[in-house]
Amino acid sequence: MALSRQSLSVRQRVGSSSAAAGQGIGRSIRVTAWVSFVVEVLIIGTGGAVRLTGSGMGCPTWPTCTADSLIPTSELSFHSLIEFGNRMMTGVVGIAVLVLVLLLWRLRAERRNIFTLAVVVLGGVVAQAVVGGITVWTGLNPFIVGFHYVASLVLVCVSAAILVRIRQAPGPRKLAVPSWFAALVHATSFVVAVTIAVGVLTTASGPHSGDVNAGRTGFDVELLEHLHAWPAYLAFALSIVLVLTAYRWGGAVFRWSIALLLVELVQIALGLYQARNGLPELAVGAHMVLAALLAATMTVLILCLKRQSPIPAETVSSSSRS
Ligand code: HEM
Repeated sequence: MALSRQSLSVRQRVGSSSAAAGQGIGRSIRVTAWVSFVVEVLIIGTGGAVRLTGSGMGCPTWPTCTADSLIPTSELSFHSLIEFGNRMMTGVVGIAVLVLVLLLWRLRAERRNIFTLAVVVLGGVVAQAVVGGITVWTGLNPFIVGFHYVASLVLVCVSAAILVRIRQAPGPRKLAVPSWFAALVHATSFVVAVTIAVGVLTTASGPHSGDVNAGRTGFDVELLEHLHAWPAYLAFALSIVLVLTAYRWGGAVFRWSIALLLVELVQIALGLYQARNGLPELAVGAHMVLAALLAATMTVLILCLKRQSPIPAETVSSSSRS
């Protein structure tokens, strides 16, 4: 079937990849941006390990581990090592992001958007170190622990945005898809955000508090589990629509719609598995990390909605599926 004129012109626009990409962005910046993204995701895993092994108060004070020692002492248990390991991980993340900011310094005028994003991540990492300290000071208040997780997830999304932007040429961008499709993507991202927010509340009310003495929200966990799962199914349904509609355009929008659908599929399967099997720690940890990857995928899809410049018509006609 021949492509309609509208879908052909959309295909021209979404098909333009990073042809004119990455002006001034060298290999060292690309590699550091990837390292920064990966360690941002990893620290969500190590933070999850702290909570899921009940090591939240392994170092009972902050910024030192105990009242008179910066690092765990021999009297402290393996929980201290896990908690302290997570504190060390903050250092690794901080160094990676600091190096990225320094590498981007000379491009701060031409690639101001990327430089600003990197500075935001650096500021966020410093702020997160303090929020981590506040979680300890408050004896793992579930709302603060939840906020700490959500803030990490936002930093993963900003790091993903940096990865997208360094592949794109600077300059103004135009919507590369019909506005209804962009609205559908934004609606999906809203539903994903609601799913994540209610998931965090579910965790904050469930058994994995991070310490035997830590408080819980007192909300009904079973009800929250349902309130969390419903928007997850809605996000999945919306993502199916995204894949089916983006199919005729191909390109990055189609690829990232598929990625979103696949990550959601695994995440929903994992969520159902953990809910029906007494919340095994490993599955809960994987669900936490995958939520961050899902949010990152959503971010990339949103950023793919706009393109800087269209590719020539000949390129399109030679790759057309009609
Ligand atoms: C788009 C799909 C989904 C996303 C993005 C998602 C995301 C999340 C997030 C961010 C958390 C909180 C993690 C934390 O604070 O440590 C969470 C917790 C949870 N999720 Fe999901 N989830 C999804 C689907 C599901 C589904 C379908 C179920 C099935 C009932 C489910 C069951 C749970 C449960 C039981 C918890 C609480 C775990 C605990 O108590 O520690 N999730 N989810």
